[in-house]
Order: sequence, then structure tokens, then C-alpha cells
Amino acid sequence: MTEQSKHIILRKKEHLELCKTDAVQFMEKTSGFEKYDFLHSAITEVQITKIDFAKKFFGKNVSYPLLISCMTGGTAEGENINLQLAEVAAELNIPLGLGSLRFALETNDYDEHFKLIRKAAKEVPILGNIGGAQIIKMKSFKSLITLLEKVEADVLVVHLNPLQEFLQKNGDPNFYGIKKSLGKLVKYSPMPIIVKEVGSGISKKSAKVLLDLGVVGIDVAGAGGTSWAGVELLRNKQSVKNLFWDWGLPTSFCIKKTAELKKKNKFMLIGSGGINSSFDVAKALALGADFTASARIILQTLVKTKQTGVVSLISGWFEDVKLIMYLTDSQNLRSFGKEKLILKKDFY
Ligand SMILES: Cc1cc2nc3c(=O)[nH]c(=O)nc-3n(C[C@H](O)[C@H](O)[C@H](O)COP(=O)(O)O)c2cc1C
Repeated sequence: MTEQSKHIILRKKEHLELCKTDAVQFMEKTSGFEKYDFLHSAITEVQITKIDFAKKFFGKNVSYPLLISCMTGGTAEGENINLQLAEVAAELNIPLGLGSLRFALETNDYDEHFKLIRKAAKEVPILGNIGGAQIIKMKSFKSLITLLEKVEADVLVVHLNPLQEFLQKNGDPNFYGIKKSLGKLVKYSPMPIIVKEVGSGISKKSAKVLLDLGVVGIDVAGAGGTSWAGVELLRNKQSVKNLFWDWGLPTSFCIKKTAELKKKNKFMLIGSGGINSSFDVAKALALGADFTASARIILQTLVKTKQTGVVSLISGWFEDVKLIMYLTDSQNLRSFGKEKLILKKDFY
């Protein structure tokens, strides 16, 4: 094993341990969802039993507009978590994101693991994941695509995480050439490309640049949930409050602004970053997200209450979303838009 692989494995272990706790939450900045409430409608003709969340995710039918965000891999525990999450995704029939495949690019040791993941996930969409800082350095994308084919990935997610790379010990804060590399990858890749952040958010302006490069999905991964600056600062033993812990654009803001691009562009908008409750899911969808995604709360629930806990968490969220739709006179997700929300400050 190379020195670099050893570093990556240690880092992944530390990430997992820290993310099992709430110490890595944003400190003061929030997702902004708490500023909204739903406009109650005394007149509702919604038939609750007829509400159906089924949607297409890049050609495949899924049962809920929520995906398990890209998280782990590369360590024994990470592999085990991925397999458990694959079973959850299969049971709920929702898409499954895998953590960065960077570690697997250096060795063939993970081929068997990828086969097991696909088997456990059954037919659900699988999202492969790689860092923007890594694709810039690739002379060819052949090995990356071969790897994605082994796990029969449906989509490739590229994460842009400039703040995390900057704060990370042995990180790689060099994104010079990212637009050119992404453009080339879009042309080369047989699978569609989504771009995500990891908690600092994607602005409308950045989203437009990405769409012009041919990216077909934007996962805003905004501020208000897990702070990856926080994670790296804690790894560096800098537990004192650092000004950059709370850096980033709140998730609700990113969704609302980026959704404006839908008028002229066809793309999938994923709302994530601090989606930790049924009301967060509902507000993200009402603000314009086509799908929502969660990471740390899913990891924590899995660790505490196993797969059954995660299945109940997510199916429970959507039972609440049904009730919210009933109380806002929204028979389907198409009619559940931002006019169903009100800023709480407007109540008084
Ligand atoms: C343990 C853990 C590992 C993660 N690893 C990755 C990764 O490899 N690639 C990636 O794009 N995002 C990764 N993320 C970031 C999440 O996908 C997500 O964007 C971020 O945590 C914000 O969502 P949250 O507030 O629901 O946690 C990871 C998150 C967690 C909790």
C-alpha cells in the first residue's frame, strides 16, 4: 500500500468517527429552512392515499425524491456501512451515493466489494463519486469509468470542496483548470454527471457555469448541516472557533436561487446540506428541489438503530410530507411549489 493510500484510509476513518458526533455541525449559520413555514389551507381537496412520490432518477423509477448522499468507502467499516446502506436503498427503492472512489483507483482490491454493493442495492440507481481536485490531475478518465462500470453506476457525481481541501492536512487546494476538466469529462463519460459541494453550497452563478459545461445535475450541498471545515479543523486539533467553520451559502438560499435556472435549463436540482427532518425535506422540495439528499443523519441513524432505523426515518419523513401536502392543498409534487411557503417574519 502506498503512503498516499495509508493517508486516505486514516483520513476516512477520522471522518467517519467525527461524523458520528454532532461536534461537526455548523455553529451559528443555519440551512435557513427554519425561516419558512407552510401556508395552511383550510380548503383542501387532497386525497392523502393518492399522494404518490414515485419519480424518475436518470431513467430509473424510484419511490421517493430523496437519495442517500455520497459518504464512505475505503475502510473496512466504510465498506460495511456502504453495504448496509445499499440494502436500505434497495428496500426503500431510492438512489444510493457512494463515497469518493479515489482510494479504489489505485488498486483492484475493491472489485469484489463493488459487486457486493450492486447485488445488495438490486436495481436502484448508484452514484459513483470523485473529487474535482482529482479529475484535474487525470490524463485519461479511462480507469475512472472502468471502475464505475464495475459497480454498474448510473451517474457520476463530482464533488467540489475547495474549503475542505484547503483546511485538510495533505489536502489538495488546487482547482486550476476545473472547468476544462469537467467539460472533457462530460464529453467522455457514458454516464450523466452531477456536481455537488460538501456543505458550502453552489450559487446560481456557479450552477449556470456547470450547466453550460454539460453537467445535468446540481446538488447544492449547502451550509447548515455538516461543516466540512469543522471536520478538518477538528482533525487538525484546532477546536477553537475558526472564522471559516461557518463559511458557505445556506441550503435554502441555494435551492431557491438555483431553481430559477429551471426556466431556461433542463437539469436535476438536488437540495442537500442539513436535511435532517421531514420539514426540511418538504421545504427543500417546495423551494424547487427535484430531489433531496441527506448524509450525516443517515450515518448516525444507521450506527444507532441499524438499517431498520434508517428505513423508518426516511419513510416516516415522507408520511409527514404527505400530511404537509394535504394541509397545503397539494395533491402532487408538481403543485407543491414555493407559493405553499411563507416567511415566518411575514406572519407578524
Ligand atoms: C462520513 C461522511 C463522508 C463523506 N464523504 C463524502 C465523499 O466521499 N464525497 C462527497 O462528495 N461527499 C462526502 N460527504 C459529504 C456529504 O455527501 C454531504 O454533502 C455533506 O455531509 C452535507 O450533508 P449533511 O448536512 O446531510 O451531512 C461525506 C459526508 C459524511 C457524513
